Amino acid sequence: MMEGMGHGASVDLKSTEEKERRLNIPKILKADRETKNSIQYTIVAKQGETKFFRDAKKTKTLGYNGNYLGPVVELKKGKTVTIRTVNRLSEATTFHWHGLVVPSSVDGGPHQVVKAGETKVVKFKVKQNESTLWFHPHPMGKTAEQVYKGLAGLLYVKDEKTKETMLPQKYGENDIPLILQDRKVKNRNVLEYADVEKTDGALGDTLLVNGTINPYFNVKYSQLRVRLINGSNARNYAVKLSDGSSFKKIADDGGYISKAKNVKKIDLSPGERIEVLVDFSKRKIGETVAFETNGVKVVNFKLKEKQGTSLSALAPKSVNENLLKTSSKVNQKLTLFGMGKNVEINGKKFDETRFDIKAKKGETEVWEIYNKKDMMGGMTHPFHIHGVQFKVLERNNQKLDNQETGLKDTIAIKPGERVKIQMTFKEKGVFMYHCHILEHEENGMMGQLRVD
Ligand code: C2O
Ligand code: CU
Ligand code: CU
Repeated sequence: MMEGMGHGASVDLKSTEEKERRLNIPKILKADRETKNSIQYTIVAKQGETKFFRDAKKTKTLGYNGNYLGPVVELKKGKTVTIRTVNRLSEATTFHWHGLVVPSSVDGGPHQVVKAGETKVVKFKVKQNESTLWFHPHPMGKTAEQVYKGLAGLLYVKDEKTKETMLPQKYGENDIPLILQDRKVKNRNVLEYADVEKTDGALGDTLLVNGTINPYFNVKYSQLRVRLINGSNARNYAVKLSDGSSFKKIADDGGYISKAKNVKKIDLSPGERIEVLVDFSKRKIGETVAFETNGVKVVNFKLKEKQGTSLSALAPKSVNENLLKTSSKVNQKLTLFGMGKNVEINGKKFDETRFDIKAKKGETEVWEIYNKKDMMGGMTHPFHIHGVQFKVLERNNQKLDNQETGLKDTIAIKPGERVKIQMTFKEKGVFMYHCHILEHEENGMMGQLRVD
C-alpha cells in the first residue's frame, strides 16, 4: 500500500511481460473550418476495438473519433470555438471540458446530456492562457464507466504570444503527452467495468500510457517537454526518472508557473496535469532512461539525436495570472469525508436540486477544504471545481511559493490536510465541484456552485 493512499489502493500495478512498443501519440484533431477568429471541430463519442496486448484478441473500448481515448483538440486563445459533439454510443453521455473556463451551459457537466444518437453544438470563446486541459464524459451514474472504457481526450489551449517562448512545441517530437491510466484487462482482452472492484474507485494492475502497454519513445531533441495527465479513475501516481535525476516542472493544470522548478518526483492524482522538461543534453546518444511510477515503467526514453538547445537557454515564460492579490478571508469551508459509498462533502451527498454554494461573477473567494480522517485513516481526495482555475494559497497553514505553483483546477488533499484555494469566478451558471476519484463522484461526493 502506498503512503498517503490509506485504504484506497488495494490493487498494485504489475510490471508487464509485454514487449516494448512505440508510444502511441494521439493525433491532433483537424478543424472542420478555421478563420482568423473562429474554429470548428467535430468530436464523436463512439464504440471501438483496441488491441492492447500483442498476442491477444481485440478489446471492446470507447473512444472519441477513434477506438480508444481521443485526439488532441487545439483551442486558440481569443478565438470562438464551435464543437459539434456527436454521441454514437448506445447510451447518454456528456462532453465535459475539464479545466476550461466557460459558462456552465457549455461546460458539459451532468446537466448537458447528449442522448444516444444525438448531436449537440457548443460554442464558447477561449479566454484563458496556454495550458493542458482534457475532456471526458460526465453523465450522472455513467461517468466512471465511460472514462474507464476509454473516453478521454486532450485539450491544448494555445496562445499565439507564447510561440516566442523557447519551450519545445513540436508536437509528438519534443512535446508529448503521457496519459496515465490503470486498467484491468481480463484475459488480456476484456475491459469490463463490471469486472473491477470499485469500492474506492476502479483500479487495474496494467498501466496504459496513451493506451500503450510498455511504451518506448525515441528522443531526438536535447529538451523534451512532457505533459503528464492522470486520466485514471482512482489511482495516484508518483513519476520519477529511473536514474533518480531531476527534471523541471514548468506548468500546473491551468498553465505555466513563473519559475521552472527542479523536481525529482511528480505526484499526480486523478484529473491533475503537470508539464515537465527533461534535459537530455548531457546524456549520450544511445542512452536510455525511463519514467517510472509505483514500481513500474511508464515509458522508456531512447536517446537517438540531440537537436536543439540546452536547457540553460530556455526561458520558461511568466505568462500567467498567478500573482493575483491574495485574500485572507475564508468564504467557504468544505469538509471531505468518507470512503466507498459513504462519501460526502459537508455531511451531504450530491443533490441536483440543491445549490450548495452561491457566488457572484467577478468575485474572488477563498475556500478552505479539509479532508477529515476516518477511523481507518481516510484517503486522498483529488478535489476539482468546474469553470474556474484556482490558486493554491496554503497547505496545512503553510504558504505555497507563488512562483512555483501555477493555476489549478484539481488538487490532491491527503487525509488530515487542509488547503486554502483562491479563485475569481469568471463565468455564470451551475458548476460542479467534486472528488475526481470518479466512483466517489458517482457516489455523491459532489456539490453544486451557482454563479450569478
Ligand atoms: Cu474532470 Cu467534473 O470533471
Ligand atoms: Cu471538470
Ligand atoms: Cu474521493
